[in-house]
Amino acid sequence: MALLQLSARHGFTIDAVECDENGALSPDALASMIDGNVKLITLTHAPANSGLMNPAIDVGAIAKAHGIPFILDVAQTAGQVPLDVEALGCQMLVATGRKFLRGPRGTAFAYIAPSLLDQLEVPTISNTTATLSPDSEILVSGGAARFEIWETNIAARHALGRAMDYAMEWGLDNIRARIDHLASQLRTKLGGIKGIELTDQGIERCGIVCMKVRNKDPYDVLTRLRAENINTAVIRPEQTFLDSQKRSLPPLLRASVHYYNTESELDVFCETLERMIR
Ligand SMILES: Cc1ncc(COP(=O)(O)O)c(C=O)c1O
Repeated sequence: MALLQLSARHGFTIDAVECDENGALSPDALASMIDGNVKLITLTHAPANSGLMNPAIDVGAIAKAHGIPFILDVAQTAGQVPLDVEALGCQMLVATGRKFLRGPRGTAFAYIAPSLLDQLEVPTISNTTATLSPDSEILVSGGAARFEIWETNIAARHALGRAMDYAMEWGLDNIRARIDHLASQLRTKLGGIKGIELTDQGIERCGIVCMKVRNKDPYDVLTRLRAENINTAVIRPEQTFLDSQKRSLPPLLRASVHYYNTESELDVFCETLERMIR
């Protein structure tokens, strides 16, 4: 939606890249689309609805080879997989604090390569993002301050920083391995439940596990699970518009695992779900 809004304002077109046979973005399809008109490549690292991780490193390499800026949305992967902007080859990276980082709601962060920073328009002029010269000229601040507006929730920002330190203390490699172990177990267990159809795709997967629940309203299942202290989410088709259209997906039940989950919690979840849909 953000891109559609910008395209209406600036008059560019948006082309979606085809997926490979496993549902992840196809680097070959992307490479075949590159020409002088391509000004920006954007990629969602892990979509909200299918467990897969897109080949960000391959996309970064294509972007770099053609000198095209690449922005990576890591809203679903920050805090669950190691992220290195150099290795990923992205000049911009955007993340939210409230998901796998376990930071406060309403927090987010962005990385912008120094080479690009001064070229980007400053969306909000405030006491920190700019100063005013004696001749009424707006002097935009240098560095990250260009985007850090004056009034903010300082406590939440500190808490986000603490959440990041906390994740780094556990180690993102350790977190990734633990999540991978739990998510694979969960997919195997769910695969054995009649009435549950996993909709996950991709070869490289993360801790997001999505499913169709046969003959049940997923919102109803979510509410009943919540009453038993089990947190899930429902992903609406419009939240993952292109994929949901392509695969005719209904609202999906999503169970995300994190490192603090236990194997016995997976059992409780699967048993409870099975009982509910029987
Ligand atoms: C891939 C992706 N990007 C961005 C967002 C938006 O995150 P936020 O609402 O914290 O800005 C989400 C939220 O679900 C998401 O899944």
